[in-house]
Amino acid sequence: MTSTSLDPTTLRRTPLTPFGLLVEASDGLALTDLPPEVLARWTEEARVLVLRGFPLLDTEGFAAYCHRWGEVLRWDFGEVFDLVQHENPKNYLFARGDVPFHWDGVFAKNTPGYFMFQCLEASPGAGGETVFSDTTRVYRDAPPELRAHWSQISVRYATDKLAHYGGDVTEPLVAVHPRSGMPTVRYAEPLDPESFLNPLFLEVDGVPEAEVPALLEDLAQRLHQPRYCYPHEWRTGDVVIADNHALVHGRNAFTGESVRHLQRVQVI
Ligand SMILES: [Fe+2]
Repeated sequence: MTSTSLDPTTLRRTPLTPFGLLVEASDGLALTDLPPEVLARWTEEARVLVLRGFPLLDTEGFAAYCHRWGEVLRWDFGEVFDLVQHENPKNYLFARGDVPFHWDGVFAKNTPGYFMFQCLEASPGAGGETVFSDTTRVYRDAPPELRAHWSQISVRYATDKLAHYGGDVTEPLVAVHPRSGMPTVRYAEPLDPESFLNPLFLEVDGVPEAEVPALLEDLAQRLHQPRYCYPHEWRTGDVVIADNHALVHGRNAFTGESVRHLQRVQVI
């Protein structure tokens, strides 16, 4: 990471509920003026940063800024992923329905530490909020015997490669955050082939088969509790930076006429 001379502590900062931090631009300031090491610290503390009021960057400028944070994950399409609702989507990410919780890079060789979005266009009030669940709090508040049980479990995920990702991986349900050392829950909710264009199949290891449905139901209920979830309603121009190791995230379904275009970059 490189630094600049700007003192970002002069920016207006407002805590979000139940977690997250809103950072608002002051006159003439660009995203590129904000030192990544300061924002990374704030992201680690708040889990999600919402940067509002900064002029949008072009695609190359956004990618270049993300490079200052660290190594950027490259995919078939390049580094900047355009998330736009499609008319005939091949993948659920481009459709209008909900996107269940997951962490980014389940099938990637290197799990991104951060993912950053910039919002080129949004229709507030039409649903489609990105929902972040803080798994460090979910873990912290779980009874000790349940935590001990979780630590014995691993989950195998399998999906066909219909978009830029796919494969077959097995991950422990509890993992240590590589930067903060805090325990986190790593869980991607199954995608039922009846409802989703690209199903995600799960196999749970470390618990008798008959107990799996109740275990997953309980886990989903905990992750979805509003006290652990920050739903972000997008406004044009928003830049959102999220701690991918601490959080799982998903998207609410769109409820109305909506045009939305996000660009996403993942930093390892
Ligand atoms: Fe995602």
